[in-house]
Amino acid sequence: MAVKMRAPEATVPDVIDPTRVPVHVACVMDGNGRWASERNMVRTEGHAAGEQALVDTVDAALELGIKWLTVYAFSTENWRRPISEVRYLMNFNERLLLRRRDELSAKGVRIRFVGRRDWRIPRRLLARIEETEEMTAGNDVLTLSIAFNYGSRAELVDAVKALNAEGVEPSEEAISARLYDPTMPDVDLWIRTSGEHRISNFLLWQSAYAEFVFVDAYWPDFGRTQMVEAVAEFQRRDRRFGGL
Ligand code: FPP
Repeated sequence: MAVKMRAPEATVPDVIDPTRVPVHVACVMDGNGRWASERNMVRTEGHAAGEQALVDTVDAALELGIKWLTVYAFSTENWRRPISEVRYLMNFNERLLLRRRDELSAKGVRIRFVGRRDWRIPRRLLARIEETEEMTAGNDVLTLSIAFNYGSRAELVDAVKALNAEGVEPSEEAISARLYDPTMPDVDLWIRTSGEHRISNFLLWQSAYAEFVFVDAYWPDFGRTQMVEAVAEFQRRDRRFGGL
């Protein structure tokens, strides 16, 4: 049984109002390849450098009291990359889980996956995914939701198919209940790194009222400072949810 402890006992920075922290933050971890190319490294070294950024981001989320963090690890469109990079990413994701799940679990992080669990995912990785979800299911400090083989349109198609199969009349509630993780709260703060201003099929339904923050830094350069700045920006926004 893992020992639960809170993240580094740091105080929430003064720029943050602890009573208005976003519940659910979503991150598109973009720019690993460009980060590497600019350093004359191979693209995969950029993904490797992204691991520390992910760990730092989780620590920042724990420190700030964020309850859900969803990160885009592999999209349904990423299969179009050269086979060597796809293979690297499958292997990398598996190794990363094995390397990090105990320390994440010790911090009270519950790890879940969203995406299509189809034949394209290597069976060994699928086993790790299921094992990791089971191992961390009892943790409740932060939910780290990993979008893997994920695409929002595919998710909505799958939900609509489920409705049809069950003969259920479509409604917002009925669709929400058939998404990959029906317990996932709406996204409050949606972040993309690397200066790109695109949604790229990430959590379209869940982000209907999200605040979008685009960060110029490449993902390997993202961390606590950038997370604090994004939350501070979120708190400067006036959220009206369609009201006045
Ligand atoms: C985008 O950069 C990043 C990815 C496709 C993968 C990022 C994955 C991680 C950091 C590890 C996550 C793993 C787990 C298990 C949570 P890019 O290759 O699109 O960069 P570019 O736009 O510069 O080419």
